[in-house]
Amino acid sequence: MRTIDEYNFAGKKALVRVDFNVPLDAEYRITDDTRIRAAVPTIQKILADGGAVILMSHLGRPKAGPEEKYSLKHLVNRLSQEFNTTVLFAEDCVGPQAAQMAHDLKPGEILLLENLRFHKAEEKGDADFAKELATLGDVYVNDAFGTAHREHASTAVIARYFPKDKVMGYVMTAELENARRVLGNAERPYTAIMGGAKISDKILIIEKLMDRVDNLLIGGGMSYTFVKADGGQIGSSLVEEDKIDLAKRLIAMAREKGVNLMIPVDSVVADAFSNDANIDTSLSHHIKPLWMGLDIGPTAREQYADVIRNSKTILWNGPMGVFEMSNFSVGTEAVADAVVDATRMGAYSLIGGGDSAAAVNKFGYADKVSYVSTGGGALLEYMEGKTLPGVAAIERDDY
Ligand code: 3PG
Ligand code: MG
Repeated sequence: MRTIDEYNFAGKKALVRVDFNVPLDAEYRITDDTRIRAAVPTIQKILADGGAVILMSHLGRPKAGPEEKYSLKHLVNRLSQEFNTTVLFAEDCVGPQAAQMAHDLKPGEILLLENLRFHKAEEKGDADFAKELATLGDVYVNDAFGTAHREHASTAVIARYFPKDKVMGYVMTAELENARRVLGNAERPYTAIMGGAKISDKILIIEKLMDRVDNLLIGGGMSYTFVKADGGQIGSSLVEEDKIDLAKRLIAMAREKGVNLMIPVDSVVADAFSNDANIDTSLSHHIKPLWMGLDIGPTAREQYADVIRNSKTILWNGPMGVFEMSNFSVGTEAVADAVVDATRMGAYSLIGGGDSAAAVNKFGYADKVSYVSTGGGALLEYMEGKTLPGVAAIERDDY
């Protein structure tokens, strides 16, 4: 496999799969442009070589055909500003218009294709669809790490039409390098912070991490399944009843392996799932009936911050509470603060997952941690030890 730095794009049309699946508000404004900013160096390298860029991406999960709210045309202005040029837009990623526009594209120009998922063939990994996309460019660049766990037409299947001309972009390379840092011989103490709503999304990664980490800090909605498994009264907090046995098993596993598994001792509780609800603090094991835990509490905050500040390697995935609501964002912010402090003192910190990355951006800390991943599911699957089709398609000659 060649790296993007070894490839000369002069005179070539590069078909670049990016992950521009960015959040848009009701007026179609981009509310977090991390994934766009991340892709800039790859695009710039191609342009600087004297190549032309054809960008392809998905946006959201459209059900059946085109939908206004999932149109990539909402990104055209943002991209045009970024590259100081008028970014061209094809209203369909395949078909005569896209073919003509790609054909006419000149070195230094950028063409953005409409949402790949407006065609069901994309997610099906349809070979004919991949082949038609492939006719648009001379070289395939995959820089969509966030979508690398999908075996779709544009993320994997298409690579077979570019046996000699396929490379990873800078995002992909950097993501893999950073993920490998926390998978390999990480410096200790090594702390993983796992949050988010559901244990079910995190089981495999938590099991894997048990063999690596010294501390495993649990937060977010999934805390309460652990609390209940530990015999606590959790009121009407979120719980996955069918995962209680699993939580018990994870608690026992941590004990056997000598991992310091921490469940928040206290919580910020509310009498409704609303920022305007009545709020209180409570021991997580003694939450009143009808009240629910929506953030880690003040003691847990201090304990977690303490562990984090004493760590040398930190992996953080998932918020500590409902951080979108200001009354329940304190725990996530306290953890973010501690991660920033530890990083300043020399620790390596990797922030993964859409929500924790959004939280770090919200608090303005993106530049104060070691690396913010653009991947959610993709990073987790990579860390679970799974092969990412988007990576294999580039790395393997026989793909
Ligand atoms: C993501 O945001 O998770 C990636 O863009 C992949 O999207 P998907 O989960 O809809 O496949
Ligand atoms: Mg996803």
